[in-house]
Amino acid sequence: MSSYDRLQDELRANPRTWLITGVAGFIGSNLLEALLRLGQRVVGLDNFSTGKAANLDEVKTNVSPSEWERFRFIEGDIRQVAVCRAACAGIDFVLHQAALGSVPRSMEDPLGAHESNVSGFLNVLVAAREAKVSRFVYASSSAVYGDEPALPKVESRIGRPLSPYGATKAINEVYATAFALAYGFASIGLRYFNVFGPRQDPEGAYAAVIPRWIAALLRREPVHINGDGETSRDFCFVTNVVQANLLAATTTNADALNRAYNVAVGERTTLNELFRLLQNGLRRLDPALPEQRPVYCDFRPGDVRHSLADVTLARQLLGYEPTYRIDQGLDVAMEWYRDHTQRAP
Ligand SMILES: NC(=O)c1ccc[n+]([C@@H]2O[C@H](COP(=O)([O-])OP(=O)(O)OC[C@H]3O[C@@H](n4cnc5c(N)ncnc54)[C@H](O)[C@@H]3O)[C@@H](O)[C@H]2O)c1
Repeated sequence: MSSYDRLQDELRANPRTWLITGVAGFIGSNLLEALLRLGQRVVGLDNFSTGKAANLDEVKTNVSPSEWERFRFIEGDIRQVAVCRAACAGIDFVLHQAALGSVPRSMEDPLGAHESNVSGFLNVLVAAREAKVSRFVYASSSAVYGDEPALPKVESRIGRPLSPYGATKAINEVYATAFALAYGFASIGLRYFNVFGPRQDPEGAYAAVIPRWIAALLRREPVHINGDGETSRDFCFVTNVVQANLLAATTTNADALNRAYNVAVGERTTLNELFRLLQNGLRRLDPALPEQRPVYCDFRPGDVRHSLADVTLARQLLGYEPTYRIDQGLDVAMEWYRDHTQRAP
């Protein structure tokens, strides 16, 4: 039995109260669904800046009415500390996901990124400490590796951030460390590497590559690759991210606290390979889809060339064991997008 199987049994037997910030977003709503299915009580906070009510509606349909009753939603903004204080009251574990994601968005609006990702983060951290929650787990990012060239990325060697977004996540880790040293407040940071899965938004200028390409292929629109397609990423299915959050929130290993962990699979896929996986997978689901060639365009400023995680630390200290490799995750994701994508008439 894995650490995660044991943990799920323990949570079913002893339900706790969780706060998920950014609950209406992609990762937040997947955390919500997993926790409700485990019989947990969940408070969710979101201002719908990038999240959607439709994500919450879908979780409601996927869980039972009695599981849904254990969820309380607060529409509010983490930039207001009073909202964070109200949300943290009576909470055992905080899973802080709320932030403005996307490197290019932060390049265009560094002040907006700072307000939600740094000031908002600090508000949640302060409120969580005042409420004496047992654990504060927060979404960091592989963006903290910035210009550090070594591959795979190991937690102890970060570089200089290449974007305001990367800077905000690096600052989160600095604040979490300061709160551990100054107040003895325990937290764990999770450096997510290119997460994908159901409910990730395919629309808009800042959409992530997997949902954007799936939607384009399903709509028979051209797929654009930034650069030569040999850029690579460690794509991580969202179920692995859920596992890492639950293990981090509940670990009793004192050595595991006050650190940031890579959350990924530990495998690298180039954009050219990703395109082939998606095109072949979607044409298996719908043989009528035409075969297309990608359109290559300029590299995107702020993007790192290669990204690959060493996940040994999370394995050793948290008992993290990713259960989905990229192809297994893509199978689930592609079916979800096939069922949820509006086709062109
Ligand atoms: N998806 C990835 O590949 C990835 C990679 C690294 C890190 N992350 C981090 O994981 C977290 C979740 O990302 P996601 O992909 O689910 O993005 P998302 O945009 O789907 O979710 C973020 C949620 O936070 C909410 N939010 C933003 N600002 C807020 C504010 N001021 N007050 C209240 N709510 C606010 C949004 O409305 C949204 O629902 C973020 O912190 C992101 O930076 C994601």
